[in-house]
Amino acid sequence: MNDEHTEPAAPGPQPQTWSGVRTGPLQEGEWVTVTDPKGKRKSLLLQSGHTYHTTKGGVPHDEMIGGPDGNTVITAGGMGLLVLRPLLSDYTVTMPRGAAIIYPKEAGQIVLAADIFPGARVLEAGVGSGGLTLSLLRAIGPHGELHSFERRPDFAEIARSNVRTWLGADPPGWHVHVGDLVEQLTAAPDDPAEVDRVILDMLAPWDCIEAVRDRLAPGGVLCCYVATTTQLGRVMDTIRTVTGFTEPQGTETMTRDWHAEGLAIRPAHGTGSHTGFLVTARRLAPGVVAPMRKRRPAAGAYGPDYTGPRPAWVPTLAEVHGDADPTTDWGRLG
Ligand SMILES: C[S@@+](CC[C@H](N)C(=O)[O-])C[C@H]1O[C@@H](n2cnc3c(N)ncnc32)[C@H](O)[C@@H]1O
Repeated sequence: MNDEHTEPAAPGPQPQTWSGVRTGPLQEGEWVTVTDPKGKRKSLLLQSGHTYHTTKGGVPHDEMIGGPDGNTVITAGGMGLLVLRPLLSDYTVTMPRGAAIIYPKEAGQIVLAADIFPGARVLEAGVGSGGLTLSLLRAIGPHGELHSFERRPDFAEIARSNVRTWLGADPPGWHVHVGDLVEQLTAAPDDPAEVDRVILDMLAPWDCIEAVRDRLAPGGVLCCYVATTTQLGRVMDTIRTVTGFTEPQGTETMTRDWHAEGLAIRPAHGTGSHTGFLVTARRLAPGVVAPMRKRRPAAGAYGPDYTGPRPAWVPTLAEVHGDADPTTDWGRLG
């Protein structure tokens, strides 16, 4: 269903909430999800006079328009179809993509782990296809501010189009900045001047930690989504090294579908694959340094094979051995 939300936006945004949620009878111009008896789903833009065709015959859109959400219709060949408005999570996984999206299981987790609240000032980068953007916009509500940075203009356009399709228009308080995050922040010291929350979803978030730290309000939350263990390690050590943050916390979110019919109760087949890790940390007040860690790193954690950033409390190889090669011992800032 990936390329199907490409037609004009549905009418009737609800500017009082900007949630994208519609209620009441289905209207022409709205997207619905049609599910057949085998569970196969298809997104459909309701248009009067059009027909939805299946291998078991067609069904006129007019039989769905004016009907309730959660209705069934019957094709000419007698197949029953379930008609429902998509939820935000349904829409997010089926909308057109440039870059890979953050899946709903992590988007939901990010909203809570990063404590996104109504009215929050949030910075996200990169915006990619706008998958996370949609959840952030919903969580901040009409009085929040979301600054979405994306260095690829084509991806920023896809994100804009996805947001407009879901919400019907650009929501108030949403600012799309096209360009590299660090370059944009450096060029515009007041845009945004300060944010409450920062979410980074990009290949190399460690390149941006220092720049976003300086825009994050004291007590604010930094949350990075990364896909691999090497990224996880590097971003956590960078957060420790640049200072100004609490000790970062790394987590993985796992969900597993279950099959439960009568006595046949077991994990569902084919679910539970890895998607990503979240790293969160809180911003300290300017000039405040977190108390020195009492716990020693595991033996060898920052040994000769480690070439990444070195937190202040980790001795450099030269300090340990006195004779380390300065060309390979990268010192504290890696
Ligand atoms: C995985 S995608 C983001 C997906 C997005 N969060 C979503 O849910 O749809 C990563 C994006 O970050 C952008 N990006 C990477 N580094 C960046 C940087 N330094 N500044 C701005 N955007 C960046 C890439 O162009 C890419 O579109």
